[in-house]
Amino acid sequence: MKANTSCVVGVQWGDEGKGKIVDLLSKEADVVVRFQGGGNAGHTVVNGKEKFVLHLIPSGILHKGTTCVIANGVVVDLVQLLEEIRDLRKRGVEVGRNLILSERAHVVMPYHKQLDALSEKSSDKKIGTTQRGIGPCYADKAARKGIRIADLYSPAVFMERLGALVSEKNKILRALYDAPPLEADRIWMEYRKLADEVEPFVGDATTYVNGAIDGGRRVLFEGAQGSLLDIDFGTYPYVTSSNSDACGISAGAGVPPKKVGTIIGIAKAYCTRVGEGPFPTELANALGEKIREIGREFGATTGRPRRCGWFDIVASRHAVMINGIDELAITKLDVLDGLPELQVCTAYELDGERVDRIPVDVETLARCRPVYRTFPGWKADTSKARKFDALPKEAKAYLKFLEKELKVRVTIVSVGTERMKTIFR
Ligand code: GDP
Ligand code: IMO
Ligand code: MG
Repeated sequence: MKANTSCVVGVQWGDEGKGKIVDLLSKEADVVVRFQGGGNAGHTVVNGKEKFVLHLIPSGILHKGTTCVIANGVVVDLVQLLEEIRDLRKRGVEVGRNLILSERAHVVMPYHKQLDALSEKSSDKKIGTTQRGIGPCYADKAARKGIRIADLYSPAVFMERLGALVSEKNKILRALYDAPPLEADRIWMEYRKLADEVEPFVGDATTYVNGAIDGGRRVLFEGAQGSLLDIDFGTYPYVTSSNSDACGISAGAGVPPKKVGTIIGIAKAYCTRVGEGPFPTELANALGEKIREIGREFGATTGRPRRCGWFDIVASRHAVMINGIDELAITKLDVLDGLPELQVCTAYELDGERVDRIPVDVETLARCRPVYRTFPGWKADTSKARKFDALPKEAKAYLKFLEKELKVRVTIVSVGTERMKTIFR
């Protein structure tokens, strides 16, 4: 690590294995911070025989002595957060003073979830969202019509704002979706109660995180989604509604860019995508299904089958650039064990021309055909390897090729869901 701060961000379309890697790195971190996204994330941590799927709480929560922060850039569904806290406590995980919820974070309200679902249902150009209210909540934030955690504790102000908002949402619900109206009073009462329940966690996260960094404590930022789902740099409009790359840290946590140290990018040894949107290396065939089966590629939040395909250098190179990736963690190498050969997309072909950069619009991207380089597979069981040198020579050659093309050193290789199935290089 170059500094006492580092971050983990996905360099594909999400689900790269951020949960596993953040959990591992959290052993060495004093503070773990989520800075964007919300309950759309599903980060899996396997601890011994137990599997935890975290949506809002940072993946450092299983480590005693690590403080977890949900920063201002996260959109928080309080019902989901309390459920997550209850579930963790039931399973013996301490959640108390080790969790801080930013008073500046925006609240995902019931109408956000409803509008997300209705918009998806009624549109013939679905995004394939997780229907967790993410887009509508960020839209209200940008339109200056959001409710922040702090607002919940000024009952009169909250009531007045909520009244106006619900009346506006009811007009939309009726006009666009012919849906029944919501009752502001009911929501107010429910959210006052939820506010009381989360109050012990609420605090000034920005001052806390900056203080921790300045005091020399080790702070790890945990990205959600992946760079290709980033609202500015992803495959717009088939993206999420936040900056899911390292650029999101400053605005999402109130941490100046110069304080962000090592940037660790995470990629699967192949590629997946869930939801709609172009995916040039998608294997919409039996091999894609086989990878889905072996890799258990089903959404951690929605259970939807993930689309599977080959590693896409063009897409990930774009992510490496915008994040300034210093090191790479490659996960799920074991899933490729036994395949006779592997392909890596090194460029796209568009109308007979070679393209090295991801096109800005999805219509053009959808017309791109991958140019592949083929690699021999390996027969050995990589999940048993604990050192880079113990990997089959074909696997090493494959990883070194990714390293060379992306111009970033692979420092972590994950070969299984459990903590111990990891190679640090
Ligand atoms: P995240 O959203 O980036 O945290 O990733 P998810 O948790 O949504 O999806 C990654 C899935 O792959 C989870 O089920 C992990 O338990 C699993 N996983 C992570 N690393 C490995 C690995 O190296 N090998 C295998 N086979 N599974 C892995
Ligand atoms: P983690 O953090 C994979 C996708 C959805 C959809 C698009 C927009 O687990 O990697 P949204 O609900 O955010 O408005 O949906 O983004 N998506 C994810 N895909 N992993 C995620 O999170 C995702 N979060 C959102 O499937 O295509
Ligand atoms: Mg996930």
